[in-house]
Amino acid sequence: RVHMAGNDERTYIMVKPDGVQRGLVGQIIGRFEQRGYQLKGLKLMQPTEALLRQHYNELVTKAFFPRLLEYMLSGPVCAMVWEGKGVVATGRMMLGATNPQASAPGTIRGDYCIDVGKNICHGSDSVENAEREIGLWFSADELLSWTPHSRPWLYE
Ligand code: TYD
Ligand code: MG
Repeated sequence: RVHMAGNDERTYIMVKPDGVQRGLVGQIIGRFEQRGYQLKGLKLMQPTEALLRQHYNELVTKAFFPRLLEYMLSGPVCAMVWEGKGVVATGRMMLGATNPQASAPGTIRGDYCIDVGKNICHGSDSVENAEREIGLWFSADELLSWTPHSRPWLYE
């Protein structure tokens, strides 16, 4: 049932500059589409330092933050909002571990990258952070509400 409560969970997924430069945007979008999640928002954009400091507000004091900032400013990112049942936790599983060398083959990081400082994509780590991040990266009018006719093959 498409309209069941909980099927409208949202997450913020972002292809980082290295993923965009390596031409992996389509692969990453494809995995979420193939899984059955619904695309609610999508844009290519150059993030600002101010936005990245808000996005990574819990990490600004970390020793690796200056390098993370430089990396994330190195080119455009592809910002996305995906919706569906359990999409936050499942999205994290699809991404793999933060350190790609600990990411299982079959995950995005486990299939496409090696170093933690070039791990090609971001995914929100909780429903609360997902809503916070979506609010940072998207305005309300950039998120579209659309309903597929019905998807009885996806939801019980
Ligand atoms: P974090 O939110 O801990 O990981 P995740 O992206 O899996 O939610 O960290 C954010 C990003 O910071 C991470 O994707 C890569 C970078 N990072 C480093 O460069 N070095 C590190 O030691 C850590 C923990 C993160
Ligand atoms: Mg994180």
